[in-house]
Amino acid sequence: MSAPLPPDAPHPADGVLHTEAEIQARVAELGRRITTDYAGRDLVLVTVLRGGVFFLADLCRHIDLPLRLDFMAISSYTNEAHTGAVRITKDLDEDLEGKSVLVVEDIIDTGMTLNYLLGILRSRGPASVEVAVLLDRDVRRIVDLPIAYRGFHMPDRFVVGYGLDLHGLHRNLRYIATLPDAVMD
Ligand code: IMP
Ligand code: MG
Repeated sequence: MSAPLPPDAPHPADGVLHTEAEIQARVAELGRRITTDYAGRDLVLVTVLRGGVFFLADLCRHIDLPLRLDFMAISSYTNEAHTGAVRITKDLDEDLEGKSVLVVEDIIDTGMTLNYLLGILRSRGPASVEVAVLLDRDVRRIVDLPIAYRGFHMPDRFVVGYGLDLHGLHRNLRYIATLPDAVMD
């Protein structure tokens, strides 16, 4: 497992990109739009563990509709990094046949992983599959993905907080912050 933070590590509070208030306002707005768009449909929110669960938990409480939640866990094939191919380490419990699936993600970077996942979900006979993402780092996008609900466009900087981690740390921050020393892989 990862080592503890050294005492002189930069504190994320020094690089706040989106405050708690800003995030909450935006998430509430997305929830209202989803409430309007998905009325009368059989909605399942699908989240990839672990980073997306914070956005999911806040977003679903702003959706005033009956809905279900489901979770997947994946691990990347390191030797096939360029295909976005992943191994599903925990699959969904829900049958997606006829369901309106909304994939809730923390951040989209190259889009490779999500593109691969969307292919898997679409093969299961859902009525629809759309994407809600909190952070869209579109400058690094390799595959063009349709994003129905977007929290914020973001610059080409590594961020932590509100579910996003560096070596497993900082997911619990209520804000989103840049870390000066973090390198993207
Ligand atoms: P991609 O879109 O397939 O390139 O990968 C996106 C995934 O990379 C996300 O789901 C995150 O797990 C991780 N990721 C990308 N950028 C960041 C970041 O700035 N902070 C933390 N995790 C990130
Ligand atoms: Mg992720």
